[in-house]
Amino acid sequence: PAVMTSWAAEVRRLADQRNAVILAHNYQLPEIQDVADHVGDSLALSRVAAEHPADVIVFCGVHFMAETAKILSPDKTVLLPEPEAGCSLAASITADDVRAWKATHPDGVVVAYVNTSAEVKAESDICCTSSNAADVVRSIPEGVPIFFIPDQFLGAHVRRVTGRDMDVWAGECHVHAEISPAELRRRIADEPDADILIHPECGCTTTALYLAGAGDLPRERTKILSTGGMVAYAEQTQARRVLVATETGILHQLRRRAPGTDFQPITDRAVCPYMKMITPEKLLRSLRDGVFEVDVDPEIAARARRSVERMIQIGS
Ligand code: 13P
Ligand code: SF4
Repeated sequence: PAVMTSWAAEVRRLADQRNAVILAHNYQLPEIQDVADHVGDSLALSRVAAEHPADVIVFCGVHFMAETAKILSPDKTVLLPEPEAGCSLAASITADDVRAWKATHPDGVVVAYVNTSAEVKAESDICCTSSNAADVVRSIPEGVPIFFIPDQFLGAHVRRVTGRDMDVWAGECHVHAEISPAELRRRIADEPDADILIHPECGCTTTALYLAGAGDLPRERTKILSTGGMVAYAEQTQARRVLVATETGILHQLRRRAPGTDFQPITDRAVCPYMKMITPEKLLRSLRDGVFEVDVDPEIAARARRSVERMIQIGS
């Protein structure tokens, strides 16, 4: 950027000194997004982590994302600026829960959303993100039992778009689950001309699909997208006004990509406390002191890597 604050200049200087690449999820604070080398959704950032030649990855996101980077690049140092940055969705399922399903479905396939711990990924057959979940499920032969974990709303969405019968774990992200159907309905009624972007983790996703199917809401105005899909939408939209149902950090990227479009959150309470734990001071400390290193047990990492690598091959 042409004008850099002294904080940003120091972050960039330390990143060069350590040969570090800074990755930021679309939900990060605007300052963090602006100083990063790459901003994106979970799938795009995993791909960068797998291929980037840097010695160090500083992951401005949450713990499972840094773990996924470590799984893909075991020889790199992976730093998470705040070790307590977790994820309520990832915390909703354990490796034992997965083993219990596999014990009763020996021929089954476990599809794990990337928002899971390394141990859970190690017990799974293939990972997915919100941008390729349907393609991942379609890649599994018909008739094979599928266990889709851990997000019930994403699971319901994938079930609907693929027509596949699946067992779905009843987990949820507390931020997206609280974007309620009632709130969605009210905003849609108040704004008949706005486009509506909905992340499939939202509690209101199934309502939106129902409304679209029922004709209350024209299908072409409602898009169920990953955060990366929302950014791609912003790059080509002609819409004047767009309502967004996901964590509000995404608005920074959307407004940058489409300055002529008015993007508004369905609710400004949709703020992920874990994503927001990564502050400018903590990013600086991370680069300066080399903290906090994220490690994954090599045996678990090796098993998890097969699932994550399959995910990276599939979809956009
Ligand atoms: P995506 O960026 O892959 O859409 O993920 C959303 C999310 O909640 C990550 O925690
Ligand atoms: Fe986890 Fe939800 Fe936060 Fe994403 S927004 S990191 S799913 S708690």
